[in-house]
Amino acid sequence: MRMYDLIMKKRNGGALNEEEIHFLIQEYVDGNIPDYQMSAFLMAVYFQGMTEEETLAMTLEVAHSGDMVDLSAIKGVKVDKHSTGGVGDKTTLIVGPMAAACGVKVAKMSGRGLGHTGGTVDKLEAIPGYRTTLSREEFFQVVNQTGISVIGQSGNLTPADKKLYALRDVTATVDSIPLIAVSIMGKKLAAGSDCIVLDVKTGSGAFMKTAEDSLALAREMVAIGENAGKRTVALITNMDIPLGNCIGNSLEVLEAVETLRGNGPEDLTDVCVELAANMLYLAGKGEMEICRQMVLRVLGNGQALERLAVMVEAQGGDSRMIRNPQLLEKAPLIYPVRAPRSGYITHMDTENCGIASAMLGAGRETKDSRIDYSAGIVLERKTGDFVEKGQVLAQFYASDEKLFAAAEERFLHAVVIGNEKPERQPLIYARVTRDGVVNGYKTAGKE
Ligand code: URA
Repeated sequence: MRMYDLIMKKRNGGALNEEEIHFLIQEYVDGNIPDYQMSAFLMAVYFQGMTEEETLAMTLEVAHSGDMVDLSAIKGVKVDKHSTGGVGDKTTLIVGPMAAACGVKVAKMSGRGLGHTGGTVDKLEAIPGYRTTLSREEFFQVVNQTGISVIGQSGNLTPADKKLYALRDVTATVDSIPLIAVSIMGKKLAAGSDCIVLDVKTGSGAFMKTAEDSLALAREMVAIGENAGKRTVALITNMDIPLGNCIGNSLEVLEAVETLRGNGPEDLTDVCVELAANMLYLAGKGEMEICRQMVLRVLGNGQALERLAVMVEAQGGDSRMIRNPQLLEKAPLIYPVRAPRSGYITHMDTENCGIASAMLGAGRETKDSRIDYSAGIVLERKTGDFVEKGQVLAQFYASDEKLFAAAEERFLHAVVIGNEKPERQPLIYARVTRDGVVNGYKTAGKE
């Protein structure tokens, strides 16, 4: 088999068979296919797409290119949840404990933030003592004991994805729907859970900026999951407005705890209840409405909050921070950002809101930058709200006052104030399952 022939086949719109895809991934990981040939192939995929059979075969090859995590030492149905990334997205800290409190096992490997998006591992590390690196045995033990463990990615998981992603990053082939689907689902299949709930974000703070692209991505990922024998559901959720009111690591832990206490913002609470209910549904706990009621019950009686506390404790973290989140580290400096004019907030460029928070110290410029866990933004107004000139839009938290001016400029450019009240946006655009697509049933913002 020759790589040249595979590139030509894809360039001409053909579909590769399983044997050809096996060759492509295996030989690339082994270093026998050079980057320039793989780049040409990826660009051909970018323009020609891939069939359902091809994406499945490629995902399985990517998943099997490294360790496949065997979760059989954990009793019960294991359900994973994955978000495609956004701003203010602390859902794992809420959804995981909700699902665990309802009897689902959550053995989750999460990532760090990069660029404008936050990462669950960074948020958890804002809790003093919390260990995001555990041995496999410790990981299984924590899940068996508490129902949930969230750690960083460890071991040799999907080396093919690492190599392919780095190449896509420099060859303008990241934003190809089949390649994104292969990359995400390859990691999910390798992580070993029985079922997968996908939170596909859409809008200005998301990877996919339009609902159409998000739907196409969700469909591909659900098809891959189901064809690989994992029950898979995707929700397409709004990331055109930051989720909740807090952006930044300690601030997001605080907001997650408040949400688990029943005092969270409505948008965040609603998305989390739906995601957790879908996890229960896939685990066979009953019809969707029954699952929703189960989630609401553990939210109302404190059991979900308690799950977060026991997980934190089991992983070496200071659980007093969960029971009393006011103990979490606070930034020494707070700066109010005021509205430059009166009117309705008609749009928030959410990516730039995330960048403003990163500029305050909450995110990394490069992979090796240190982050300030206490830094970030608390939004006092969001899309749809009316503001008077000079009213506070947001409070900025930082440890160095020199950071405020540039972050404020970025943030104020991101917030558009106009005369007309904007239409409410959907909070959840659609639910995608193997049976098809059900269009949106919740809206974001205030009446
Ligand atoms: N996230 C991933 O893991 N892979 C992609 O290709 C895009 C987003």
